[in-house]
Amino acid sequence: MKASLFRSAETALRRVSSPSASSHLLRRSYCVESKPERKVAVLGAAGGIGQPLALLMKLNPLVSSLSLYDIAGTPGVAADVSHINTRSQVAGYMGDDQLGQALEGADLVIIPAGVPRKPGMTRDDLFNINAGIVKSLCTAIAKYCPNALVNMISNPVNSTVPIAAEVFKKAGTYDEKKLFGVTTLDVVRAKTFYAGKAKVPVAEANVPVVGGHAGITILPLFSQATPKSNNLSDEDIVALTKRTQDGGTEVVEAKAGKGSATLSMAYAGAVFADACLKVLNGVPDVVECSFVQSTIVPDLPYFASKVKLGKNGVEEVLGLGPLSDYEKQGLESLKHELKASIEKGIKFATQS
Ligand code: LAC
Repeated sequence: MKASLFRSAETALRRVSSPSASSHLLRRSYCVESKPERKVAVLGAAGGIGQPLALLMKLNPLVSSLSLYDIAGTPGVAADVSHINTRSQVAGYMGDDQLGQALEGADLVIIPAGVPRKPGMTRDDLFNINAGIVKSLCTAIAKYCPNALVNMISNPVNSTVPIAAEVFKKAGTYDEKKLFGVTTLDVVRAKTFYAGKAKVPVAEANVPVVGGHAGITILPLFSQATPKSNNLSDEDIVALTKRTQDGGTEVVEAKAGKGSATLSMAYAGAVFADACLKVLNGVPDVVECSFVQSTIVPDLPYFASKVKLGKNGVEEVLGLGPLSDYEKQGLESLKHELKASIEKGIKFATQS
């Protein structure tokens, strides 16, 4: 089996290097297999999410250059991660004056920078500190890698994505297809909780989550969950919905003052980043939920929903699909808070 695999790889290589009528085509397909160079920058790489995210991105074979930036601590994280024997070259950058270098040439920028919640805090309570951090990082992105895809993790995502958009607009670099609020952790949680309750294999579970990334703005659509389950009562659905909405808070409380989700958040961030890298490399039919510029719900200029990804980022924002009455109610009740969070972000970015 192995020998024949090797043989066919060799034949393919020989074909690619021999000049024939079809060699151009073959070379192209070989290039796809040989994986293009991709630089990924993690901003906030020494933090609670940043460190495990740096590790996971180091394990991703689609990354050729891994740039780890933070205000402090990145030389250590970079030295540590760089010893792992995988493809990417790792570099650590520290402080404002190295931010440009960290970003230059990046295809994808992931931003987990900022402070996490403590018990009793909502994500919005982080606004005052994280809004300013996101604003200055995005100003640098506009300057040094305006074409990169941006994956926003810093909370409150419902506001930091609009802040990033306004910063990019001001700089004249905004491309709505390239800015993503990472809501993958909501999907990850919904899948886990659904699989547990519905007794379906967790690896097969899929649940779209729409809306935003805070409390009631997180709206899991269990009516569209697969594999379908007939053994969930209305009460089960309500409990699953609440647990998904409060998943972050569950971790904040369990960590009792030591921060919020870092490991599962890093995992979710790595899953979404991997999807972005795949589409940059031309992989078709990639669909993920994300908080993006949107027109699918009137009055909400940003909204999380299923998004078809392509070479340029967002290829198509997909609609909500049929909602249950309970989900329709959930959608109504999230509108006010989500709108206010979006407006708060826009106001901050345009007035400061
Ligand atoms: C969460 C935070 C990290 O959802 O937003 O746990």
